[in-house]
Amino acid sequence: MTVIALASAKSCGVTTSALAMTLSSTRPSLLAECDPAGGTIRAGLFQAQITAGTGLYHLAVAERAGEDALAQAFAHHLVGLDASGHRQVLPGLTDPAQAPALVRSWPALAQVMRVLSDEGGYDVIVDAGRLALESGRLHSTLTPAPLLHGADLVLLVVRATDQSLALARHMSEPLRNELTEHGTGADALGVLLIEDGHRRAHEVSEALRLPVMASLPWEPDTAAYLAGTSRAPRGLKKSPLLSSARTAVSYLQAAAARRALHQQYPPTPSAPSPPWGPAIQPAPGPAVLPAPAAPQIAGVLQRLGQGRVDPRG
Ligand SMILES: Nc1ncnc2c1ncn2[C@@H]1O[C@H](COP(=O)(O)OP(=O)(O)OP(=O)(O)O)[C@@H](O)[C@H]1O
Ligand SMILES: [Mg+2]
Repeated sequence: MTVIALASAKSCGVTTSALAMTLSSTRPSLLAECDPAGGTIRAGLFQAQITAGTGLYHLAVAERAGEDALAQAFAHHLVGLDASGHRQVLPGLTDPAQAPALVRSWPALAQVMRVLSDEGGYDVIVDAGRLALESGRLHSTLTPAPLLHGADLVLLVVRATDQSLALARHMSEPLRNELTEHGTGADALGVLLIEDGHRRAHEVSEALRLPVMASLPWEPDTAAYLAGTSRAPRGLKKSPLLSSARTAVSYLQAAAARRALHQQYPPTPSAPSPPWGPAIQPAPGPAVLPAPAAPQIAGVLQRLGQGRVDPRG
């Protein structure tokens, strides 16, 4: 399965897209709301029905008690996103002041997500929030950098406006460097384009020097439902946003699988470029892929999906 991290330069639709992708995925899926600036799903889509006693912050406490405690807590703090039980969310921080407590926990959380994906059969979508830099690197407190390092794909979410592109432009190079040095390679990085604005995909790709790996339509009704500010529109599942999200997820899963294959069997210099363009370089090997999971983590994660409750009934 696939771990996909979404992040933006500034409030472009990361949470909305992550929700749309998780809700529309045809495979068991988990949305981990890991925005250090604080989560919005609890107060938004869940209408404050999840208390502060559930969520990401508590995993920082569990991580200090050890690997097994973290794995158990991870399962315990998931909330059903719909009645199917196959789509779950880890609600985010209730206060940005909690973010420093997570800094030392991100690597262990990245490992849990990897196990959840590889052994638990889940697609994991990470809401990594707004990116922040310090001295040209990802900020250690304001960005969950280890989650980006461990993801199969990292998508910079941008809108098709000049304003959004101007802000995102400053992020593409540091992100590329970061994934080359600490992640699984710069080719993990691409754009998720929100079709609000007049810029076309090829212009966005040129401006950011990144492949546009997927795009989602601008659809205020469904977005407002996902933000918890209005009722579900009629035919929600077939709405343009969720339909496109389903297509996007399938495409991204396939792209991640192709990339994993390229990593396992690096192409010879004469081999054709992968389908998202010639900028892709074969990754330099599994630089920071987590070590194999301890059996207790895998065991606990296999219990996920059992007995999860949708608090909205
Ligand atoms: N595809 C879309 N169609 C219509 N509106 C959208 C879409 N995506 C996001 N929006 C709207 O844009 C606003 C910001 O979206 P969202 O909260 O998802 O962004 P974000 O990147 O998570 O922001 P933040 O960094 O502040 O958490 C919201 O009002 C949301 O409803
Ligand atoms: Mg958000």
